[in-house]
Amino acid sequence: MNKPSRISEAHRLDIAHRPRRNRKAEWARRLVSEHVLTTSDLIWPLFLIEGKAKRVPVAAMPGVDRLSVDEAVREAERAVKLDIPAIAFFPYTEPHLKDEHGSEAFNESNLVCKACRAIKREFPALGLVTDVALDPYTSHGHDGLVHEHESGDIRILNDETVKALVRQSLNQARAGADVIAPSDMMDGRVGAIREALDAEGFLDVQILAYAAKYASAFYGPFRDALGSAGALKGDKRTYQMDPANSDEALREVELDLDEGADMVMIKPGMPYLDVIRRVKDEFGAPTFAYQVSGEYSMIMAAAERGWIDGDKAMMESLIAFKRAGADGVLTYFAPRAAEKLTAA
Ligand code: PBG
Repeated sequence: MNKPSRISEAHRLDIAHRPRRNRKAEWARRLVSEHVLTTSDLIWPLFLIEGKAKRVPVAAMPGVDRLSVDEAVREAERAVKLDIPAIAFFPYTEPHLKDEHGSEAFNESNLVCKACRAIKREFPALGLVTDVALDPYTSHGHDGLVHEHESGDIRILNDETVKALVRQSLNQARAGADVIAPSDMMDGRVGAIREALDAEGFLDVQILAYAAKYASAFYGPFRDALGSAGALKGDKRTYQMDPANSDEALREVELDLDEGADMVMIKPGMPYLDVIRRVKDEFGAPTFAYQVSGEYSMIMAAAERGWIDGDKAMMESLIAFKRAGADGVLTYFAPRAAEKLTAA
């Protein structure tokens, strides 16, 4: 005789669809999971400083140091061991090397060039991404050349800046950069850089265009790391995009692809997942997200206070980029995420 059900007929729900079945156990969840994050999705940004055996913590980015070139070589080795495909460089420039033209960008033994040469020599199979923009080198903190009116108003000069960015790009390519990443948002720079690279025989050097880069408050800790925050005159809203726009992002991406970008980037990351999705759907090009300094620091700060689980928030934020359609993510979490992924 059947035991009578302990749930009375009155309490049994008539539910035809039970999506929870597919979530009932770890193995079942693994089978139906739609996206994966692997170490192949990561680009690791590193900050550089002059000196030897030096690591200087970035106050606003717990766990991130500025590295002298020899230390950067050690981190490059760590990247190789962790199977991270590529690293990217950002230099902290000594104030005395800054001027209004960003001249240090063209110095063939500037920090970025030294790091490229040193790391290429030791780890030729590691991808090297170099950022193209003048802000680490300019006394006024802008990504481009500035014209100052007598009134004190400033204007960022587009076409003059593009010429400077071309010089900067060639300087980086000659030092061994594999991927040139213009982050300046000047009009027409991708085409100009492509032409110059080709003319010098750098046919295989890729361009990763910061195609849709927004004028964002989330870059705060980065400017602190580079020492470019205090000096910045005004803001970057005449070249970086308005956070209110996304149709415009599609136009920016289309132009950069037309001009020869091999890969495009959306920046910042998490507040702009909708833009990543639209760009990926519209163009199907290799699309990257930059999980910027402020995004990193928010997670780290909340985790330090015990308000969120840092590891879990990190992994959730990274899979969100994959779900939104990104092929990869530039993230300061790269080594920590790779450690978790390879330990699993
Ligand atoms: C500068 C540049 C910035 C970042 C990367 N390249 C800052 C800016 O535009 O002011 C920000 C990266 C980050 O916040 O992690 N061209």
